[in-house]
Amino acid sequence: MMETVHVGLGERAYDIHIGPGLLARAGALIAPLLKRKKLCVVTDENVAALHIETLRTGLAAEGISIEVLVLPAGESTKSWPHFTRTVEWLLEQKVERRDLVVAFGGGVIGDLTGFAAAVLRRGVGFVQIPTSLLAQVDSSVGGKTGINSAQGKNLIGAFHQPALVLADTEVLGTLTPRDFLAGYGEVVKYGLLGDAAFFEWLEGRGPALASGDMAARIAAVKRSCEMKAEIVARDETEQGDRALLNLGHTFCHALEAATGYGDRLLHGEGVAIGCALAFELSSRLGLCAQEDPSRVRAHLADMGMKVDLRDIDGDLPDADGLLDLMAQDKKVVDGQLRFILARGIGQAFVTADVPRDVVHQLLVDELARR
Ligand code: GLY
Repeated sequence: MMETVHVGLGERAYDIHIGPGLLARAGALIAPLLKRKKLCVVTDENVAALHIETLRTGLAAEGISIEVLVLPAGESTKSWPHFTRTVEWLLEQKVERRDLVVAFGGGVIGDLTGFAAAVLRRGVGFVQIPTSLLAQVDSSVGGKTGINSAQGKNLIGAFHQPALVLADTEVLGTLTPRDFLAGYGEVVKYGLLGDAAFFEWLEGRGPALASGDMAARIAAVKRSCEMKAEIVARDETEQGDRALLNLGHTFCHALEAATGYGDRLLHGEGVAIGCALAFELSSRLGLCAQEDPSRVRAHLADMGMKVDLRDIDGDLPDADGLLDLMAQDKKVVDGQLRFILARGIGQAFVTADVPRDVVHQLLVDELARR
């Protein structure tokens, strides 16, 4: 039961393998890429406690030995101090240009380790073994790597594609329901941005998928990766279409900044709310049918997810404050906010042509419902 999605990037092309039990098979899957049978693995405390022995055994089956760096779990690890520590550790391990480094964890570990691999000896290869749903369907694919700065999230980084991605869907069984559903926010995003039939499938199979249906999980991760691979192959460095992957993210980044990038609102939860708001905005601009935002919200509610600003605990800034936070977004070009809007479910597009007062009124209305 292993599916493979190919990311067609010429010299930088690679495969994403998806299925249960891939940690145990990691040795056989990675060995063909190795010049010598030694790997440095960067992970976090939570993942190490649950899964490092399975990975170690899977690699040892092919005679591959590992050294492991265990970092603290959490977003604050995506910072200069842990980045420096990781790069220095890899140098101490005498990682060579032709070796591969393994990122074994969620988005934080993948982004940090990928960036370390990008700068080490001016670039060594790396393998992503994503353990969260969010990392399996989004951050491990496409080569965006980096760390956060005091100025904002992901402001320091590089495009550096992995040599291989192993998405073990069995590992998803150890996620908390909240973390799983946060990752599901990114899965829904793919349906909403470009595949109405996939969204419809999620409306039917989402609940089973959340409660552990392995076939549904594999199918959802595969379709998400296919869509991401196709967009990344078209626009690797986000000159155009790749921005579609940011559906919901302009609102999300403002909400994350307002809630302190922490437990009040997980990234994937913010993406889901942001997608609902992007559809509401599209409907107010007369771009899509009024039923579309309702349908998006109905599915999120069905899944037991956060749906709108009412579901975020604690205070939020007023509409002007949220708009100011939106203006810090990386997608701002010449001071102009760029939005991903939609002409319907599965029909997203990028535009800078959004009147500020319409966004302002939308936020005023949404805040008033809290
Ligand atoms: N997460 C958006 C992208 O990879 O472009």
